[in-house]
Amino acid sequence: MTTRIQDFPFPFTQDSYEYTNNSTQLDPPRCVTMTSGYQTEIQLKRNLIQEYPERCYRSFHHSIEAQWEILKLIMSELAFYEPDHFSFRKKGKEFQFNNHILEEEVRFTDRDLSSVDDEPLNLAGKHVQEDLILMGDRDGTLFLDAGQLCFPSNWSLAFVFGLDFKSIHTPVPRVNQTDFIDKVERFIKHIRPGMAWERKNWSVTITEKLDTPLETFPEWGKHRLEVTEENVEELLHLRVEVQRLHRLPQTNDVLFTIHTYLLSLKEMATKKDWLTRFFRNIDTLPDDISEYKGIAYYKNPLMNYLEKNVSKGWSHGRHK
Ligand code: HEM
Repeated sequence: MTTRIQDFPFPFTQDSYEYTNNSTQLDPPRCVTMTSGYQTEIQLKRNLIQEYPERCYRSFHHSIEAQWEILKLIMSELAFYEPDHFSFRKKGKEFQFNNHILEEEVRFTDRDLSSVDDEPLNLAGKHVQEDLILMGDRDGTLFLDAGQLCFPSNWSLAFVFGLDFKSIHTPVPRVNQTDFIDKVERFIKHIRPGMAWERKNWSVTITEKLDTPLETFPEWGKHRLEVTEENVEELLHLRVEVQRLHRLPQTNDVLFTIHTYLLSLKEMATKKDWLTRFFRNIDTLPDDISEYKGIAYYKNPLMNYLEKNVSKGWSHGRHK
């Protein structure tokens, strides 16, 4: 499922690859974004949650308080910024949320689990395109206390559930050799209540699927071996995750939202400046990162294609 090119958050801002915490502060501090793919993606999410509930949702009971905070935060945000599509009303402890796009009404009593069919985080996630991860802030670190995860890029909620921030990032190259991940954690710890930050993470997939969890790797991972210079334009998709960090004012926990976008190389090629930036970044990608992102399998056919297609003048002098 690809994104309309007008909606696509192109991630590269420089002409060479750099390993940085590229976060920027958001004003207003929004958690979620709606795109034209809303209905299709919500349907896909709901199907996945129904079919693979354990894969797509995990929570500890101690996360419930923060989950209620997230549910109300997301419903208020949707109603405030998208009033044509959503409304949210409060009367005492009773809440009513209307999703006019899906023609659904949700009523619940604040902090009363018997008034909802799903846990609050799972309910919130069924109305937004984002994956939602709740990081509990305690004992000087952040722990993955709950998550609704339908569209992961080769990772598994079951593996990371309950882990602390640093342990979650163990598979990422270089994070153990440097103090990179400690610095990122300190940065998150300093996000003040009500504030939100955003960063873009990118990878490349040889599938149009948004749901590429570790659990189904054998199904989609094998296509990496099928890439040639001739078919790369059709098969390869740039996958961008817009990730937002939001400090919850009441519980002081952190909501991490991930909105995933896909753009085929063929569509990217219609914008020569994008294709050129992509080329420069792939060309300067260190080998360990290229392997981690799965690009190493088809880097040669990809680079051959890019060299032939980027703007004249840029393709000269391939980095290595
Ligand atoms: C608190 C919220 C966050 C959570 C729950 C989270 C979780 C994850 C997970 C599960 C992975 C995949 C690891 C694997 O391969 O198994 C990952 C990758 C990564 N994370 Fe985070 N992350 C968070 C915030 C951040 C932030 C703020 C940064 C800022 C720099 C960051 C940097 C990275 C990087 C560089 C990768 C490798 C991604 C790639 O190259 O494709 N993470 N993260």
